[in-house]
Amino acid sequence: MNDITPYVVTLNAGQTYQICQCGRCSSAPFAADNCPKAFSLHNRQKQLVWLCSCGRSAAMPYCDGSHNPRNEMTVWGALREMTQDLLGHFRK
Ligand code: FES
Repeated sequence: MNDITPYVVTLNAGQTYQICQCGRCSSAPFAADNCPKAFSLHNRQKQLVWLCSCGRSAAMPYCDGSHNPRNEMTVWGALREMTQDLLGHFRK
């Protein structure tokens, strides 16, 4: 099972955020002052967003689901894997 999850954060209206894209800032998802790959994001309205934590998104800085290998599977393959995960929990 994939343990990578996006950062779920609420951004305030009218604020500009520096988003970490280097993957090493301890303040992630927000960039530290010395982040070499900070992404400037101006937010117009208060909103809950999913920010990428894996670096694979094609819609940076937002999560597009690329962190999940199940996104490349067929529906039946994903269902089979999810069923096996679920059964694994009951067998413990
Ligand atoms: S965390 Fe979802 S695409 Fe990176």
